[in-house]
Amino acid sequence: MSDEIPGYRMKICIINGSPKDNSVTLRLAREFCRELNAEATVINLKDIKLKNCNGCMGCYHGDRCVIRDDLDSVMDAVASSDLAVFASPTYLFNVSTLMKVFIDRTANWGHKSPLCGKPSVMVSTADGTGAEDCIAYMKKAAYFTGSLPIGSVYCYLYEFKDKTRIIRQKRRCAKKVGEFFRMKTYKPGFDYLYHFNIKRSYIITARKRYYDEYVSWMKMESGKRYFYPAGKYVIKISPLKKLFSLMVSFFFFFGYKHSGKNRRASTS
Ligand SMILES: Cc1cc2nc3c(=O)[nH]c(=O)nc-3n(C[C@H](O)[C@H](O)[C@H](O)COP(=O)(O)O)c2cc1C
Repeated sequence: MSDEIPGYRMKICIINGSPKDNSVTLRLAREFCRELNAEATVINLKDIKLKNCNGCMGCYHGDRCVIRDDLDSVMDAVASSDLAVFASPTYLFNVSTLMKVFIDRTANWGHKSPLCGKPSVMVSTADGTGAEDCIAYMKKAAYFTGSLPIGSVYCYLYEFKDKTRIIRQKRRCAKKVGEFFRMKTYKPGFDYLYHFNIKRSYIITARKRYYDEYVSWMKMESGKRYFYPAGKYVIKISPLKKLFSLMVSFFFFFGYKHSGKNRRASTS
């Protein structure tokens, strides 16, 4: 896949949030990887030791989650892959419990940003409704980490009878991934820029409360830019999107400041 090393096979890390042994979601994720002719490592969250987040906020201040289990090695596997695939069955219009625990426990990615510039793809399956919502949620979670979501593949179980749409979707997503790796350019959409600027405004206004997070944010220079640093990838933001970003930052920056004053007034 890479045009830098001939014969190089892209390394994909699939994080599967299904609690089942014969997971349909994993099947779909694997089929997608086959389209890319890539080497895929599968991490089934059900098979690893993954404790629930205890809400201590340690990840906001330290380098890693304070809970000791298998999470660190999984995070390293994702960080060292060329493409991260987040696969989850749809549970009530959202991700599965296992995937939600994983997302909560990896909140540190959003503060220390080792996933900045890491391309990602979201995969989901559902019986009949809600897979789009599940994909949208995983995408938002990826936005928080600075990863670059390239596309998604999802399907409903009844579609397995006539796989035409699934095949088309898998191919379209694989094509997008191929193009991304050849071009090495990413154009964040308005939704991503919206999330980035809300986060940026919050980190700057809440810097007294979460000083460590603010310091690491400023170190990676995100505080000064329109977007996360993306390593070897070129981020393209049109003038219209830059204007949009400035407006979002402006409104949220003053919004947070104002809400802080209100909170102080109401609690005194
Ligand atoms: C707790 C629970 C909630 C579910 N919620 C939904 C839902 O909201 N919409 C839907 O279409 N299917 C729902 N399903 C069905 C699964 O999404 C579906 O069977 C999925 O393909 C299973 O994937 P897996 O084999 O990878 O685990 C739910 C299943 C469970 C166990």
